[in-house]
Amino acid sequence: MRMYDLIMKKRNGEKLSTEEIEYMIKEYTADHIPDYQMSAMMMAVYFQGMSAQETVALTMAMAHSGDMMNLSAVEGVKVDKHSTGGVGDKTSIALTPMVAACGVKIAKMSGRGLGHTGGTIDKLESFAGFTTGITEEHFIRQVNEIGVSIMGQTADIAPADKKLYALRDVTATVDNMSLIASSIMSKKLASGADAIVLDVKTGSGAFMKKEEDSFALAREMVTLGNMAGRKTIAVVSDMDQPLGRAVGNALEVEEAIATLQGEGPDDFMQLCMTLGAYMLVAGGAAADEEEAREKLEHVIADGSALKKLADFVQAQGGDSRAVYDTSLLPKADVVEEIMTPQEGYVSKIDCDEIGICSLILGGGRETKDSEIDLAVGLILHKKVGDQVKVGESLATIYANDPDKLAAAKERFLKAYHFTKQSVQKTELIKGIVRE
Ligand code: URA
Repeated sequence: MRMYDLIMKKRNGEKLSTEEIEYMIKEYTADHIPDYQMSAMMMAVYFQGMSAQETVALTMAMAHSGDMMNLSAVEGVKVDKHSTGGVGDKTSIALTPMVAACGVKIAKMSGRGLGHTGGTIDKLESFAGFTTGITEEHFIRQVNEIGVSIMGQTADIAPADKKLYALRDVTATVDNMSLIASSIMSKKLASGADAIVLDVKTGSGAFMKKEEDSFALAREMVTLGNMAGRKTIAVVSDMDQPLGRAVGNALEVEEAIATLQGEGPDDFMQLCMTLGAYMLVAGGAAADEEEAREKLEHVIADGSALKKLADFVQAQGGDSRAVYDTSLLPKADVVEEIMTPQEGYVSKIDCDEIGICSLILGGGRETKDSEIDLAVGLILHKKVGDQVKVGESLATIYANDPDKLAAAKERFLKAYHFTKQSVQKTELIKGIVRE
């Protein structure tokens, strides 16, 4: 087989066979196919798409490109959760301790920030000393002992996706349904959980902007998971505006902690409850969603979810005192209000632009190797449907560099749109995909 022939086949709109896809992934992982040929293939896939059969073959080939983690040493049902990526999405930080406090084992692999979207690992590193670079043995022991562990993608788990993902990120080939589905599901299948709850984002801050595309992505991933024998369910949720109010690593951690104290923003709490309910049912800790919600409310009210976060942070080397004293989290030097330029109602927020503001402040990576500033970001005071009056602040901005502050502020103001008439608030949960 020759990669040249496969590129031409896909470019001309033909289907690749399972053997061809397996060959391509095997040889690319072994560095026998160069990045420039794989970039051409990704662009051909972007324009020509992939059939369901090709997507299955790509997912399986990437899942088997490295080790398949064996979690059989962890007792009980192991549940994983994954979001397709968004702005202000700190869900895993609050949700995983909530679910673990209800008795469901969480063995989760997370990623770093990507483009305008943040990543759980970067956020968790706001706890001084916290690491996700733990061994598989540590990971399994911790899940058995405290019920939750989050590790980073190691070189051995789905290495084909690791390489391909970095390539797609710089060749404008991220936002393709088959490529996203196979990227996420190959990692999920290789990391060994029995049940997977997916949070598929939709809207201007998501990779899939249109609701119909997000539902199609959700269906594709649920099919892939179920076919591989993992109980999989997807929640399609709104990302047409940031989730909650905080955007930026340490600020999001602080909001997750407030949520575990029962003081989180309504939309964020609603998402945690919805995803958490499905995780509890999948993990066998609740008979139905109603019972699951009661349990989740209980672990917030009695402080056990917050304690679980502290145990989890400590088990991975982090300073768990910050869970109870958030003044120990990284803090920015400059804090300013962004005043509204006009009166009325917020009609729309360009969500990806808010993510880019955080990036400009230093909260995300400009290049693969950039150091990020954990302290910077924004707290939004006004969201879609809210009334704004002259003299009111739209957001508080946290910065460590005056030039970056000015650039982010200018961009922020362009991302907010207003109208004179009142506007309906956005529905957070767009739907559930089970089969
Ligand atoms: N997250 C992933 O892991 N892969 C994608 O392609 C998009 C989001």
